[in-house]
Amino acid sequence: MILVTGGAGYIGSHYVLHERERGSSVVVLDNLVYGHREALLGTRLIEGDIRDRKLVEQVLKDFNVDTVVHFAAYAYVGESVTDPSKYYQNNVASTLNLLDAMRAAGVGKFVFSSSCATYGDPEYVPMDEAHPQNPINPYGETKFMCERILQAYDAAYSMRFVSLRYFNAAGADPGGRIGESHNPETHLLPLILQAARGKRDSVSIFGTDYGTPDGTCIRDYIHISDLAQAHSLAIDHLRRDGKSRFYNLGTETGHSVREVINLCSKVSGKPIPVVEAPRRSGDPPRLVASAARAKAELGWAPRFTDLEETIRTAWNWEQKRTY
Ligand SMILES: NC(=O)c1ccc[n+]([C@@H]2O[C@H](COP(=O)([O-])OP(=O)(O)OC[C@H]3O[C@@H](n4cnc5c(N)ncnc54)[C@H](O)[C@@H]3O)[C@@H](O)[C@H]2O)c1
Repeated sequence: MILVTGGAGYIGSHYVLHERERGSSVVVLDNLVYGHREALLGTRLIEGDIRDRKLVEQVLKDFNVDTVVHFAAYAYVGESVTDPSKYYQNNVASTLNLLDAMRAAGVGKFVFSSSCATYGDPEYVPMDEAHPQNPINPYGETKFMCERILQAYDAAYSMRFVSLRYFNAAGADPGGRIGESHNPETHLLPLILQAARGKRDSVSIFGTDYGTPDGTCIRDYIHISDLAQAHSLAIDHLRRDGKSRFYNLGTETGHSVREVINLCSKVSGKPIPVVEAPRRSGDPPRLVASAARAKAELGWAPRFTDLEETIRTAWNWEQKRTY
């Protein structure tokens, strides 16, 4: 049995769907602070908090869990700067709690949602896993700290892990059953597509004077289904007795904010009102992954290599979203 923390959230719910479709048994633990019950499509949900040690131990025991996939965290970079306590508590202390509950229950396999935010400002692109890690905000630091804790727990207690450093998660279930829904929404694709539908007045471009071809920031948008697949492959790796590893997950291609807006306009057939705003502090000009290691070692083969296709899945969801 696989325990998925944060499985009612955006990435977690897509992973849960993928894992169930390949025949695995899954149970979700989510406090629904940001998650959506509807996104689970009937998967068993334990509504509770991963900081509740007794509850976590009980769930691990009752469901005979052998592997934990850990998505639960707060993920608003700006808020992590203004309220760091919230982030260190919910992202670091809670992960320690979860790991210690796993130790007590004898569960030794762990897949972790890490982030390209652990790298900080890029020294080179595409960024591979050997790129120095110097996070530039508390959110990135919480993910980096968790990675250090995982290494120490592996060395001391033989808890094996795979830490997946996502670049920008994007898109929705190609079947249109579930999709992206954050509240507040800060992610570029839903913001643009909601502007296309007239649900927002406009979309802001933060910074138009970066040293990139069109002056706007470049990011690597990886489709949510490809992220989901990587988690299943990570579990297979751990079940084969594979060693603890870190993997970048991205398409290895960058797109500027303006390019994304233009593609969204093309896919939706709607004009998208844009407001040019000053740069936000802490936004690197260009973040692009090298995912060669995940491809070589996990056999990961992302299917969505064309951003337009990723946007089509997001637009399909946006037009009929149910949560
Ligand atoms: N979205 C991205 O582009 C991106 C990029 C890199 C890393 N990540 C990481 O991936 C993970 C999932 O991100 P997401 O976009 O799906 O976020 P999300 O907010 O949609 O999902 C997080 C889920 O965790 C739950 N949760 C939070 N704290 C909890 C707690 N203490 N106990 C139980 N449940 C709790 C929330 O209710 C929510 O359902 C996070 O760890 C995030 O940091 C996301």
